[in-house]
Amino acid sequence: MYYSDELVEEIRAKNDIVDIVSGYVKLTKKGSSYFGLCPFHNEKSPSFSVSPMKQMYYCFGCGAGGNVFSFLMHYENFTFQESLKALAQKAGVDLPQEEYSAEAKKAADKKAILLEINKEAAKYFYYQLRGKQGELGHRYLTNRGLSEETLQKFGLGFANKTSNDLVQYLKSKGYKDEQIIQAGLASADERYGVHDKFWNRVIFPIMDVNHRAIGFGGRVMGEGNPKYLNSPETPVFDKSRNLYGLNFARTARKNNIILCEGYMDVIALHQAGFNQAVASLGTAFTSGQANLLRRYTDQVLLAYDSDGAGTSAALRALGILRETGLSGKVIDLKPYKDPDEFVGNLGQEAFQERIDQAENGFLFEIRILKQRFNTQDPEEKTVFHREIAAKLCQFSEEMERSNYLEAVADTYQINRESLKKLVEGYAARTGLVKPLERPKSGIQPKNRAEEGIRRVQRLLITWLTEEPRLYDKVKKYLTPADFTDELYGKVAEKLFEGFEHENYSPAGLISLFPEEEEQRQVAELFNTKIELSDSFSEREKAFHDILLNVKRNSLEYYSGRLGSDVTALNQVLEAKKALEELNKTHISLEE
Ligand code: UTP
Ligand code: MN
Repeated sequence: MYYSDELVEEIRAKNDIVDIVSGYVKLTKKGSSYFGLCPFHNEKSPSFSVSPMKQMYYCFGCGAGGNVFSFLMHYENFTFQESLKALAQKAGVDLPQEEYSAEAKKAADKKAILLEINKEAAKYFYYQLRGKQGELGHRYLTNRGLSEETLQKFGLGFANKTSNDLVQYLKSKGYKDEQIIQAGLASADERYGVHDKFWNRVIFPIMDVNHRAIGFGGRVMGEGNPKYLNSPETPVFDKSRNLYGLNFARTARKNNIILCEGYMDVIALHQAGFNQAVASLGTAFTSGQANLLRRYTDQVLLAYDSDGAGTSAALRALGILRETGLSGKVIDLKPYKDPDEFVGNLGQEAFQERIDQAENGFLFEIRILKQRFNTQDPEEKTVFHREIAAKLCQFSEEMERSNYLEAVADTYQINRESLKKLVEGYAARTGLVKPLERPKSGIQPKNRAEEGIRRVQRLLITWLTEEPRLYDKVKKYLTPADFTDELYGKVAEKLFEGFEHENYSPAGLISLFPEEEEQRQVAELFNTKIELSDSFSEREKAFHDILLNVKRNSLEYYSGRLGSDVTALNQVLEAKKALEELNKTHISLEE
């Protein structure tokens, strides 16, 4: 769906940046700006600033920055469209409706009804747990160490012994048997008619990333079979594309996500402060879930049960993580069975230690592999080494492969050279090792001179936006093309246009760039710190120097392009003239 620039700007202007950011970060006023602890990196003293005047935020520590849209994109992991929708709603602006085909509309309506039913059911269970009927369930959860606050946070509930009260309740709300069955909350049979699926169980509502209940898990109190009963898949409940707890973990601001097996594990970890814990939904971890996780982190720590079944599940999950390009590590929970029991017995600090000591996924695999062999026996030992070599072939980058090779060789006292030969032989025979790929051209070490030039260009733009009246004094010396960085040039063009019409908005300019990284760079452009001297004449000199620097660079830049760029000659002539004049002109910063 495409929205006009005007509409985007209207929505931005109606959402004050200080209001929006205050919803997430505690801000304190300092001068004309607000400061707080940056939500995008770990810090102890506040370098995160929010400017009501510029309607922008910028972190002097990590360089995160942007307008209200960028903030939600970064903090909530929203797309631009999602931020726009959220802020439009907040400001009471109606967005034009997306047009659906009749069929798509019908499906969307059906999903909306199922979500409503789930929401009603979640409320019903919630009140049951807190009422007379739910005392048993409440006691069960409390005995398992959960605080009132935790019960609240996860919306835990209770399904009582009566086997059709939920169905009756939902019908009283106007839903039909058929819809309730489709939502997975009831079944029908000849003997009992339409009856509740969940009864006499504590209830764990399963929420999607937008905190909407999409299904339920119910646990028997004490022993019983099955221990957990889960909603079936429905049009709104896709078990392979959701994770329990992700609605909280996605904004946990940790540099990893902890993947567990059980609902109770997630809850216990959150209660202990590990709000980055998630679990799959009573099914094995899938690649759909790995892809989902990749939106929020690049490191996954497995906290699977320490028994045999947990170990095999961990091995499968590691494979999936690797295929998805996520780094996987394994948390050792021994002597306890699962994270819930671990934190219940040893507490938060001990678990944090286990996180810090989490084992590299590959080394974990090799350690488990070794258990299958009696390495006292030369034949078995050889097979073990061959299997290691085969596994090493999965690293296509030579450096990575040799690092792992060395680590494994040292741990298991295998001769490095022999292992290397084995790997090479294996690779050649099976063609397993992919040709060495060049590392992706990531961030190049910055050319310092070039960065210096970008910096003066930023200084000038920041200064002009902070004191826009200076624009009139300098505009005859300056063109947008003087900002030789492509992005800066684009911004300067729009900004100068705005100055001309006395209608400029740095924050509005940011919305013209859909990518988060570009938004960050534009925000940086408006937030370059100017070390201002108290002396007025020194400030005038500084401003003059910055202007001269920008023009000199422009002259140099376009001189080097004469002959290849038609605008270059004009720029060169213009810059020469401007420089001559500027050298004899005093530019006053006075009003
Ligand atoms: P566990 O049996 O390890 O769960 O199953 P747990 O969280 O430790 O259970 P408690 O501590 O005894 O309450 C892990 C997960 O597997 C699914 C559930 O999602 C559970 O959280 N499961 C387990 C089922 O779906 N059905 C079952 O019968 C058992
Ligand atoms: Mn458990």
